[in-house]
Amino acid sequence: MSDRTPPSYGSYLRLDELLACQAPPDGAESRDLIHHDEMLFIVVHQVFELWFRQMLHDLSRARDILGQPDRPSDERRVDEAQIPRVTELLGRVNEILRLCHDQFTVLETMPSVHFLAFRDALLPASGFQSRQFREFEILTGMRDQDRVRDFGFDYDAMLGDAERVVLDERRSEMSLKAAVFAWLARTPVEVLFPGFPRAFLDAHRDYAATQEQLQARNPRLTEELRAAATARSTQHETALRSYLDPGGDDERRAHAAFLFIASYRQAPLLRWPYTLLEAVIEFEERLRLFRFRHARMVERMIGFRIGTGGSSGVEYLDRTALEYRVFGDLFVGRSFLVNPALLPDLPHPERLEFGFDSGLQRGAPTDGGDR
Ligand code: HEM
Repeated sequence: MSDRTPPSYGSYLRLDELLACQAPPDGAESRDLIHHDEMLFIVVHQVFELWFRQMLHDLSRARDILGQPDRPSDERRVDEAQIPRVTELLGRVNEILRLCHDQFTVLETMPSVHFLAFRDALLPASGFQSRQFREFEILTGMRDQDRVRDFGFDYDAMLGDAERVVLDERRSEMSLKAAVFAWLARTPVEVLFPGFPRAFLDAHRDYAATQEQLQARNPRLTEELRAAATARSTQHETALRSYLDPGGDDERRAHAAFLFIASYRQAPLLRWPYTLLEAVIEFEERLRLFRFRHARMVERMIGFRIGTGGSSGVEYLDRTALEYRVFGDLFVGRSFLVNPALLPDLPHPERLEFGFDSGLQRGAPTDGGDR
């Protein structure tokens, strides 16, 4: 018999510690709330930070599964049996992002003048300093050079030494984006459909031709607009060629795999890869909506004032919502997809049935299952 004290609800959840954290520190000491609504401001931020924590936990796991070798002999090959688990984890993160998006309405019950009653006491603290949010961005694959910089100081300079160390550790890890693209690049497209890129380019050309004919019959288009539509169609084909041959070998394979999976998603062995990619696309969309929603709440709360962290405020936040992209390649790929009626038939459909060892089916689950 163990002599350990059985946990209670409060001890298991550490509620004494958790519920002691809603008094803001003023220097080393806790101070009283300045305004009744300051409690809401603190609780809402803490709840967000807890969700950030959960998302980091789940995204790291998804990244680990996609980035791990499944059999000792196959370096960095993913056990396909684990793809549903990655999809589950991404689905959970997407649901949390939806909740975070909707949660701003609770904060909006605070009249903006109540916020002004205690806002000055926060300075220079700001969401800029959310270490977990920066970790989250880095883990997804966001690059520092892509950040908006409309203020005169460095992002990391707003953080303490210990926080910068954590971010540097994150930077040294494989990102979710790298894991997703490495996984995509391993899809044996050339085994499943020899000569797929060329066949896809042909299908795309046929599709573009039908689009041009439709535009030509559109009575609302002027000659000028019609010429512009034709020029766009030619540019589109050039863009597809570079998408299928971007320079790097892995990128080339990943892009071809994305178009292949999205085009033939109904084949049994492509269902899970397709579902996973949809979850990644949804993730990017939800993150962008989250940024946009935060900006709308800020606009409503403080108008066009500068932020406590020193940025231009809403203008800065709107630029991040519009410009930040991690999985942009997948959205670019979307614009090349064609009407399925014009797609060539799969030359070897049996290779995408359950039971065919194409290399997409990568054996029975290993003992590295989820914990
Ligand atoms: C009255 C409520 C809020 C206002 C007025 C506000 C305002 C701002 C402003 C102006 C910025 C830009 C940086 C700056 O200059 O300070 C910012 C950044 C940020 N805020 Fe808020 N915020 C509020 C609530 C929240 C909440 C509830 C969260 C949830 C955790 C949050 C998370 C963030 C994050 C993560 C950033 C950094 C965004 C980035 O740099 O991409 N904010 N906030």
